[in-house]
Amino acid sequence: MTGQFARDPLPIVVLVSGRGSNLQALLDAEASGALGGTIRAVISNRPCARALERARRAGVVAEIIDHENLPDRESFDRELIARIEIYRPGLIALAGYMRLLTSEFVHRYYGRMLNIHPSVLPEFRGLHTHERALAAGAKHHGCSVHFVSKEVDAGPVILQARVPVLPDDDTDSLAARVLQREHVIFPMAVRWFCEGRLRLIDDRVHLDGVPLTQPIMLGDDGL
Ligand code: GRF
Repeated sequence: MTGQFARDPLPIVVLVSGRGSNLQALLDAEASGALGGTIRAVISNRPCARALERARRAGVVAEIIDHENLPDRESFDRELIARIEIYRPGLIALAGYMRLLTSEFVHRYYGRMLNIHPSVLPEFRGLHTHERALAAGAKHHGCSVHFVSKEVDAGPVILQARVPVLPDDDTDSLAARVLQREHVIFPMAVRWFCEGRLRLIDDRVHLDGVPLTQPIMLGDDGL
């Protein structure tokens, strides 16, 4: 029996707020058999998120919980938990989910919730990372996948990719270069988790049973 459970694809719920290109990367990875899990539902806090259409096109349940219909963050997150639990996910993937989470929510899913962030953490936590990287005159920028913890964009980092900042870059060109790498590292980390290779033990990232001393940096040629 144990062996059979090990082969079952892990149920995943993806939370989104907007465009959904990272969701698309996860959907594409699943379609090609490279995700190791199955996306059971996509939930958006914004009714007009393009991500919802991407989910529907892939035949995945797309749900909306409009945060404007709920009085406060606590009631929104409680409603979100209730909806998520219908799908009994083993993993929550935040794919451009632009809402702060309550500590109750983070606590509930701690160790099984991943986020993709457009910077090489701990640099540039928060919003507008590309603008800030350009303003700081950074030579490199990039993206990170991390476990979600109570402090925003400060959870244990798993996997990162770096891109050069070019002399004539503007926000759009830099964001596009970073996004390409996001679409590689997010499905990769999700797959590691689904395969049971990636775990958070005592607040430390473990890959294949070994604690990481630093996040894995994806080379240009892949791992
Ligand atoms: C991405 O840059 C992601 O890193 C950040 O929000 C953006 C979402 O883009 N958290 P998309 O909705 O996945 O296209």
